[in-house]
Amino acid sequence: MNTTVIPAVEMEFPLLELRDVSKTYRSGSLEVEALRGACITIRQGEYVAITGPSGSGKSTLMHLLGCLDSPTSGTYRLAGQDVSTMSEEELADVRNRRIGFVFQQFNLLASLTAGRNVELPLCYAGIRRTERSSMAREALARVGLAHRVEHRPGELSGGQQQRVAIARALVGDPALILADEPTGNLDSTSTTDVLGLLADLHAAGRTIVLITHEADVAAAAQRTVRILDGAICADREHVHGGRHTVPERTTHRAGRTDTPETGETGKTGVQGVRG
Ligand SMILES: Nc1ncnc2c1ncn2[C@@H]1O[C@H](COP(=O)(O)OP(=O)(O)OP(=O)(O)O)[C@@H](O)[C@H]1O
Ligand SMILES: [Mg+2]
Repeated sequence: MNTTVIPAVEMEFPLLELRDVSKTYRSGSLEVEALRGACITIRQGEYVAITGPSGSGKSTLMHLLGCLDSPTSGTYRLAGQDVSTMSEEELADVRNRRIGFVFQQFNLLASLTAGRNVELPLCYAGIRRTERSSMAREALARVGLAHRVEHRPGELSGGQQQRVAIARALVGDPALILADEPTGNLDSTSTTDVLGLLADLHAAGRTIVLITHEADVAAAAQRTVRILDGAICADREHVHGGRHTVPERTTHRAGRTDTPETGETGKTGVQGVRG
């Protein structure tokens, strides 16, 4: 197993590099060209927003970046390594330990408590149960949900569910966070919370790729890459990008607890992410 993929230290290679990547979905005689010759380079520690209209290929791009799918043509290098040369075991290691995923629909398992949902990536990584449990509690505390460890997703608000999903994404201390419309189902307060957590993860050294079609959400990143009809049509650095540009509607820090009377206030936020 190659454990050097996405190391914690600064690398000589870009973290993510797509060269002329195309993706064509085929079902029967139907073909959809979801990506057409996309080129993107993302360096370690960047915070990049990917924007574009519905159907432009954003999620397809995220699936490729997250090694959840493979390109039809072109090259994807992750930390300098051509992903097409990686074994299934290496790809599984990258997905489970090196990348944290956050999705619009949260993708939590309804039958499991918040704590058990957060433990899942650690199960796949073979970490022992007692250690998993304490790591999950710590991750939930970082997103302000220390008091919801035993709740199931159906007993949580949308914003809380997304914070559980972020705890699950950060619990294994991945170098890269891929978030696909993480605020798409949230109100403005929860959106602010989620963007605050992503900003904190970025400040702690993580590379963040945030997919969104909302301009004010994209403004939280340092750079915006725009996709249209499967092709990159713009790529610009923000003048005032990064953690200082969480949208204007930000009125409080993310990582708050919902019930200060639990005594958890102030124990939250993700600055303490290890590594
Ligand atoms: N599994 C699939 N099989 C066939 N076509 C697909 C598949 N997934 C996506 N597509 C098509 O590929 C194109 C790009 O889809 P994609 O999901 O990447 O868009 P998107 O930019 O994420 O859109 P949205 O903002 O609505 O989430 C669309 O035309 C879509 O219909
Ligand atoms: Mg999508």
